[in-house]
Amino acid sequence: MTVTVRAAAKINLHLGVGRVREDGFHPLDTVYQAIGIHDDLTLAPADDLTLTTRVADHIDPAGVPDGPDNIVLRAARLLAAHAGRPANGAFEVRKDIPVAGGMAGGSADAAAALVACDRLWDLRTSDDDLLRLAAELGSDIPFSLVGGTARGVGRGELVTPVDDPGAWWWVAVPATEGLSTPAVYRHFDELRPDAPEVPASAEPLLAALATGEPLRLARALHNDLQEPAIDLRPELGDLIALGEAEGALRGMVSGSGPTVVFLCDSAEGARETAAGLAGSGRDVVLTATGPVAGAHVVVGA
Ligand code: C5P
Repeated sequence: MTVTVRAAAKINLHLGVGRVREDGFHPLDTVYQAIGIHDDLTLAPADDLTLTTRVADHIDPAGVPDGPDNIVLRAARLLAAHAGRPANGAFEVRKDIPVAGGMAGGSADAAAALVACDRLWDLRTSDDDLLRLAAELGSDIPFSLVGGTARGVGRGELVTPVDDPGAWWWVAVPATEGLSTPAVYRHFDELRPDAPEVPASAEPLLAALATGEPLRLARALHNDLQEPAIDLRPELGDLIALGEAEGALRGMVSGSGPTVVFLCDSAEGARETAAGLAGSGRDVVLTATGPVAGAHVVVGA
């Protein structure tokens, strides 16, 4: 008896960041979209709590955090404590989502762990409780549960699904070396000491999204973490220019980076952009559509 849960990578179509709060987090107004790059997590019954990780060819296994602090094991322990039961089971995670890439790979795994434990342990935890536990574990983990396209406020953990009529085509180019999310936020503070308390509104992005037109969406994409990410990694700016020259409507840093994503006008446009980037010596170029589902059971107990 095992459970397999699939969880998707996220990108931020709009990431408005306000001035840092007293608790060290930044107020956000963001629009998340889950796109078709996935991690699969399998949970089997076991006496102990264990985790093994297998990675896709494009991921350096050395970059994957292991040990008891891994977010998957923390998720399992948190749900077990909530339910008043022991935390046990053997997790195996198969990673396709770039690590430390600004695509919420760790958050996807944590959301998958919550769903898998809930199913294997037959807890039937309410959605409200699962979302609350997810928010305790990390700001974008509630979105990894919800999936699709959703607006996030607070520190990103308060998520409301939004209508998204599009089937959007993306090309994602991960970097060999990840970027630390806290480091990018700290650099935002240095570059923008005058950042407004209220983050830039997601409303214009939502209006563009509602048209279903790739060009309108391309023009509305916005990421306040792009400037600090490019300042830390200037080559990301060159990569964005390259993808746009290869036919993408618009490139931008994904979340805190360093993955760069390109919005394309069609499947054909995405294939051409991906081929152009691969031809320019980029080792790993992924193509994906969005929106896709949040963490969900694909093989049930
Ligand atoms: O919530 P999460 O653990 O994913 O956040 C990781 C780090 O990213 C935080 O410790 C903080 O430095 C930064 N962060 C932030 N503001 C947010 C979300 C994350 O400053 N809204």
